[in-house]
Amino acid sequence: MAKQDYKELLNELDRNKLPVHIGFIMDGNGRWAKKRNRPHLYGHRAGVKALRQVVELGVELKLQYLTFYAFSTENWSRPESEVKGLLRLLKDQLKKEIPELMEQNIYAQFIGTTVGLEENYWKEVSSLVAQTHNNTGMVVNFAFNYGGRLEIIEGFKKFMTMHPEEWHKLTPEEFGNYLWTAGQPDPDLIIRTSGEKRLSNFLLWQSAYAELYITDTLWPDFDKVELIKALLDYTSRERRFGGRNE
Ligand code: IPE
Ligand code: IPE
Ligand code: MG
Repeated sequence: MAKQDYKELLNELDRNKLPVHIGFIMDGNGRWAKKRNRPHLYGHRAGVKALRQVVELGVELKLQYLTFYAFSTENWSRPESEVKGLLRLLKDQLKKEIPELMEQNIYAQFIGTTVGLEENYWKEVSSLVAQTHNNTGMVVNFAFNYGGRLEIIEGFKKFMTMHPEEWHKLTPEEFGNYLWTAGQPDPDLIIRTSGEKRLSNFLLWQSAYAELYITDTLWPDFDKVELIKALLDYTSRERRFGGRNE
């Protein structure tokens, strides 16, 4: 059967109800590769296409914030060859995509820690994304060397360093300004591919009221049609934030 045309499906979508911020836990690259008897990294490379499709549709739908979980602080425990391959893939791909990011007026940035990364590597990737920092369109966060618990602890340390006398005044609203996502709205929707039903340390603070969408589709197979399906599901939900919609 021919893959459903995304344009057709798009007609069903209520554009007034779209999420402002979507987070993606891009999982299943390894299983995708395994099914093809290929090495794990082959799956990571294939995952790039899915990411591009999501960004393209994001621009088309004028979504404002997309956050992609690219590498967790726990992913360092993987074989060294995979880690090295992933870091290199990220840098090389970013380099390739800069013209497109500029063309689409996308502001790209990393959220995560530099701990564990070589200084040269870090400098290179941050100067690449810095090229996009006058862009005013969609914001794309790459959660890279990212861990939600670390982000919270680092945020707290930052607050305490800046305002040591004011710890008793800290509120949840205020605390958001000390996280790596400072100034951004919380994700409305978190999409995880490959069927795993967990957050794996992704946006722990920010996901308090996020809608979760889990699909069995493996990340390299995720595409515009899959994203629209997730959005159709999201737009049909009733968000209550602890209140009551009478
Ligand atoms: C997710 O794919 C991508 C990263 C962790 C970078 P996996 O590599 O976790 O794929 P599976 O879960 O083994 O299939
Ligand atoms: C989460 O996937 C991290 C990323 C997508 C970068 P993992 O594959 O690392 O998560 P677990 O180990 O299954 O929880
Ligand atoms: Mg995985």
